[in-house]
Amino acid sequence: MTQDAYYRGDGVPRGDTALPEPPPWRTFPRNSAAGVFRPPAGLTEAVNAALALRRPLLITGGPGTGKSTVIEQVAAELGLGPVLLWHITSRSSLADALYRYDALGRIHAHRIQQEKAQAGGDAGVDDVAAFLTLGPLGTALLPSKRPRALLIDEIDKADLDLPGDLLDVLERGEFRITELMREEQHTARVRTWESDVRHAVEDGHVQCTEFPFIVMTSNGEQELPAPFLRRCVRYTMPKPTAALIRDVVHGHLGLEVGESGPTAELVDEFVRRVASGESVAVDQLLGTLHLLNGPARSQGTERERLIALLMKDLSGA
Ligand SMILES: Nc1ncnc2c1ncn2[C@@H]1O[C@H](COP(=O)(O)OP(=O)(O)OP(=O)(O)O)[C@@H](O)[C@H]1O
Ligand SMILES: [Mg+2]
Repeated sequence: MTQDAYYRGDGVPRGDTALPEPPPWRTFPRNSAAGVFRPPAGLTEAVNAALALRRPLLITGGPGTGKSTVIEQVAAELGLGPVLLWHITSRSSLADALYRYDALGRIHAHRIQQEKAQAGGDAGVDDVAAFLTLGPLGTALLPSKRPRALLIDEIDKADLDLPGDLLDVLERGEFRITELMREEQHTARVRTWESDVRHAVEDGHVQCTEFPFIVMTSNGEQELPAPFLRRCVRYTMPKPTAALIRDVVHGHLGLEVGESGPTAELVDEFVRRVASGESVAVDQLLGTLHLLNGPARSQGTERERLIALLMKDLSGA
């Protein structure tokens, strides 16, 4: 089977064309990468130092070096539960990551209650907790027996103030929900991030009992302030060795690369390009090997064209 077996560019409808099986990392719902991730040298020490010191781990490195995947393996190995994800953009705020209060929803519900009461019906109770949802950071700071795992992904994309705002919360491991304090509601059952679980919050005060295991990732687009860096364990993803890439390929594709042959040449070329400063990611290599060893088992110039298509340097467009 060659590359042009699906779309042929002739405009002839072939609605019954079967697509190939997706690569294992592109099936949905997503498979966990916990079993296939291979830590580069020094990463396990950095993770263990962060765990022992109860400090966030800041991982920097180029695109596709596995920064966002590390935490999945740590959480799976140590039974820390599903990873909470806070994906940072320039609009991210600390307040939203702690909790959100749906003030408009509450006003609307209040109006409906008033109408019901005027009509002589049961108006129900006005429960402020029904309009509160903890964000990923707020959920990670709930008291728990095991630390929760929290990925603060791409912290370098944040507004300049965010790292500073985060410092205090991470230092103290606590925050307050002012809406609950204002209402003097003693116990409120508040919805948690991306789950149906509600958690009791006393007097609007959330205090962690086990500091969460936090991984923050950065592509180095913005320098982070020294007071912030001082409170993190820092690790930079190293350039991959040939042995690590062979191991990664085996983990993802079940492919023994060996010392010679076309696959070994591709792997060695990838390692050489990364070592010389080019920006190519391991998932480009995995995708290429998946196609070359599966649906697009092609030879000669077709094979070369496919490699050129998929293994482009990431620093260009
Ligand atoms: N050491 C590794 N072992 C196994 N798989 C890896 C490794 N490094 C990268 N990968 C794979 O490469 C892909 C990209 O990884 P990931 O998204 O974690 O990279 P990233 O560093 O967060 O990239 P970006 O900066 O673009 O967000 C994933 O499918 C991951 O499984
Ligand atoms: Mg990432």
